[in-house]
Amino acid sequence: MTELVADIESDFGEAVIRGLSQPRKVIPARYFYDLRGSELFEEITQLPEYYPTRTETSLLRRHAGDLGRLAGRGRPVVEFGAGSAVKTPLLLDATGATTYVPIDISSEFLDGAVARLAAGRPALRIVPIASDFTYPLNLPHLTGPLTGFFPGSTIGNFDHRAAVKLLRSFGQTLGAEACLVIGIDSRKNPRLLEAAYDDAAGVTAAFNLNLLQRINRELDGTIPIDAFEHRAIWHDGFGRIEMHLVANRDIAFAAAGQHFSMRAGETIHTENSYKYTYREARLLARASGWEPLAFWTDPDELFGLHVWTAASAELQP
Ligand code: AVJ
Repeated sequence: MTELVADIESDFGEAVIRGLSQPRKVIPARYFYDLRGSELFEEITQLPEYYPTRTETSLLRRHAGDLGRLAGRGRPVVEFGAGSAVKTPLLLDATGATTYVPIDISSEFLDGAVARLAAGRPALRIVPIASDFTYPLNLPHLTGPLTGFFPGSTIGNFDHRAAVKLLRSFGQTLGAEACLVIGIDSRKNPRLLEAAYDDAAGVTAAFNLNLLQRINRELDGTIPIDAFEHRAIWHDGFGRIEMHLVANRDIAFAAAGQHFSMRAGETIHTENSYKYTYREARLLARASGWEPLAFWTDPDELFGLHVWTAASAELQP
């Protein structure tokens, strides 16, 4: 089904060796999403404590009319990441798009997203691209101007420097006169944030711990899962939620053919999820070659939905 397949190496093993060899152990958050991890993430999005998905969805519904006017009627929609079954149709309907271009590194997820959408929309032209969306892409088969879609506050997983680089690369991929519809989670009461990332039912804990199970499954790991606990902490200075896996005793294990040890209390840092004030989000836009055009939030200001336009050439540094 997939039209273009980039040359993607399975680099999980290398990332684990590199990350666990650091003085402060770390594994990049993108490795959460094996099949089990993706299922657990879907469950997270339904949790009472996890407000982002339902809040962003209701913003897309409530402002469909404005989105249609501002985000370019009938333009091709390019989504960075495989489409969400719920959010993607909302944007496609709001803008009356007839072409949809999902970009995702996993052709499995892509095929799933494509099949779901194609079923209900026989007239929609779908151009799936299996590729790493963190690099600029050539989309020669599309005639511009294009509308980018980057929901879910996925931008939160990138530190500020990487976020600017990513958003600039979106600008290059989308070309002149593009606009970008992007969801960005807001800074808020740390207690709400910590609850959203450490839910009572333990689904986020299972999501975090699944990373260790994935290492055991795929990299011949011998990690004693019961020696680890999930921790989510708000770091105000960095404006981010951090997720860690904390060793509750001294342990030694093997993974990817290497030996590792951890002391009780030592952690593996598995995720950053940055949160932005309205002002910070606008600064982020301008720093990365975009001009804020519209912004909506919910009454509790939990989540922000933004429309940005490509800054004109003269304004770009
Ligand atoms: C998919 C990166 C937006 O940061 O909220 C959810 C991932 N991690 N619960 C987020 C996540 C723990 C999520 N993003």
